Amino acid sequence: MAELLNGQQRTNMCGELTAEHNGKQVTIMGWVHRRRDLGGLIFLQLRDRSGISQVVFDTDVCDKQLLEKASQIKLEYVVLVSGFVRLRTGNNINRNMKTGEIEVVATELKILSEAETTPFSIGDDGANELLRLKYRYLDLRREGLQQNLIIRSKLCNIVRNYLSEHGFLEIETPFLGKSTPEGARDYLVPSRVHPGEFYALPQSPQLYKQLLMIGGMDRYFQIVKCFRDEDLRANRQPEFTQIDIEMSFVDKEEQLMVIMEGLIAKIFKEIKGMDVQLPLRRLPYSEAMDRFGSDKPDLRFGMEIQDLTSIVKDSGFVVFDNCIANGGTVRCIVAKGLCDSLSRKEIDKLSERAKTYRAKGLAWYGLGKDGVKSSFAKNLTAEKLQEIEKAVGLEQGDILFAVADNYDTTVTTLGDLRCHLAKKLDLIKKDHYEMLWVVDFPLFEYDEEEHRYVAKHHPFTSPKNEDLPYLLSDPARCRAKAYDIVINGDEMGGGSMRIYNRDVQRQMFEALGFTDEQIAERFGFFVDAFKYGTPPHGGLAFGLDRLVMTLTGTENIKDVIAFPKIQNASDLMTEAPSTVEDKQLEELYIRCVSKESK
Ligand code: AMO
Repeated sequence: MAELLNGQQRTNMCGELTAEHNGKQVTIMGWVHRRRDLGGLIFLQLRDRSGISQVVFDTDVCDKQLLEKASQIKLEYVVLVSGFVRLRTGNNINRNMKTGEIEVVATELKILSEAETTPFSIGDDGANELLRLKYRYLDLRREGLQQNLIIRSKLCNIVRNYLSEHGFLEIETPFLGKSTPEGARDYLVPSRVHPGEFYALPQSPQLYKQLLMIGGMDRYFQIVKCFRDEDLRANRQPEFTQIDIEMSFVDKEEQLMVIMEGLIAKIFKEIKGMDVQLPLRRLPYSEAMDRFGSDKPDLRFGMEIQDLTSIVKDSGFVVFDNCIANGGTVRCIVAKGLCDSLSRKEIDKLSERAKTYRAKGLAWYGLGKDGVKSSFAKNLTAEKLQEIEKAVGLEQGDILFAVADNYDTTVTTLGDLRCHLAKKLDLIKKDHYEMLWVVDFPLFEYDEEEHRYVAKHHPFTSPKNEDLPYLLSDPARCRAKAYDIVINGDEMGGGSMRIYNRDVQRQMFEALGFTDEQIAERFGFFVDAFKYGTPPHGGLAFGLDRLVMTLTGTENIKDVIAFPKIQNASDLMTEAPSTVEDKQLEELYIRCVSKESK
């Protein structure tokens, strides 16, 4: 029954017809979204990427044969309709639709492709997510997903234009390469020609982009897939896209940050119509941790962390006293007006949540309508409690949550609780963006399992000039020339000025505990390159998917990727990963071992 298109062309997209087209002869093509058959009158809604137009088969205009053909049409058939645009009248006008003032009166219909009943109704946001992912190509017909991908494409255009205008060249780097130092697990690709050897898919083009600077490319960018075999979360995919950037002849963070925030401002202007106030706020890492318990603080609400250590010191409450005596700290956040609405059970749940951050427990003190509600009030004097109330601004109806532990555990636990309670209290304003740079990161962090320092960013990040003397003697004191850009509590991108002095690089490797053999084996080609004239350089990578999430307001990274993977890194549509033929494995000199035998 399907007919040939025979080169016929559409004159308009479905979603663009308005009253201005009244009387025009048009040809549109798309999927049948809805249909209504009233006997002598058949209405179709025809849908393409741009939207929906109403088509009417009216016996006053079309012959019996055409009406008969129209009556055979089912949902999701792909059809061509020619006809003329007519204004709708009276109740038929739909002000909620862009095309709601008109309809297309059909004079020609071609059924280009028939469709079986779809496993879920197109446009049904409520359909089971796993089913929608299995039939992703059908889910992609949904307006929400199409809009997200349109914004994604627009974003790529803005990025290309802006960076080209600023002298950045778009250069591709290999996917089949050597393991890079971003710290996640690699995806490996076996080599047929070199039995027992593997390529690693890039976790980022970090090494290549620095080599491009040594190669004199001056300014580089790439919108590039990166691959990381790590635990997936709502904002993480095993393959994701970076806007990767590097530039030469800079050695101060600010030189790069101003260009990058210009890009962010342009993106928000062109996509959201929003003026971003520049320069963005710069917040040192230590202050971000102190005040918000996070290196990606959400500044859309207050509830900052407050330090109680000096107040509760020697208060006689053994939990606080012991913690402080052992070098720990006691800090809290205040949840305004939450005291009476939180049940004991809910508070217990918050304590459990705190324990997932390794906190030993959660202490609370609230001023409820039936009096004080607290886990520790009985251990402190009335004067001490009043002192605490005054210091943290605790008012009737408020409740404070305190953690007594080592610094890191205390602030990160409270930082998590802060965000959790903000959602509960509905403190997060919709359509509001709080952007900032977090700067002055520590160069190293201590790996408790490996009992050594590891690079917080990566081993090529430059220390601050003034901290260079401590690189070997006091690594914990060294700060990095690194920066992250954070929007609404999410890390949108990060980067650093790089080490370009061979002596500093050598000290850095030494501080990280690499032997000469390890350096030669892992980064030999890279370290060698630095011998031959390296410009001062630095860069950054934005997470493209996360930027699109922020711009579209979704909390699920799958909503901004055409063909995403699920939590266990598999693709429900193609059923990848899958087993392969024995012959393929033989060619690669690979033999599989069962999970049990391992
Ligand atoms: P980094 O590892 O911080 O830096 O990555 C840069 C940005 O990429 C995004 N991102 C992810 N997005 C989705 N899924 C993931 N699994 C994922 N992992 C990271 C984040 C992050 O901020 N080479 C350095 C950059 C540089 O120094 O220039 C790098 O890759 O938004």
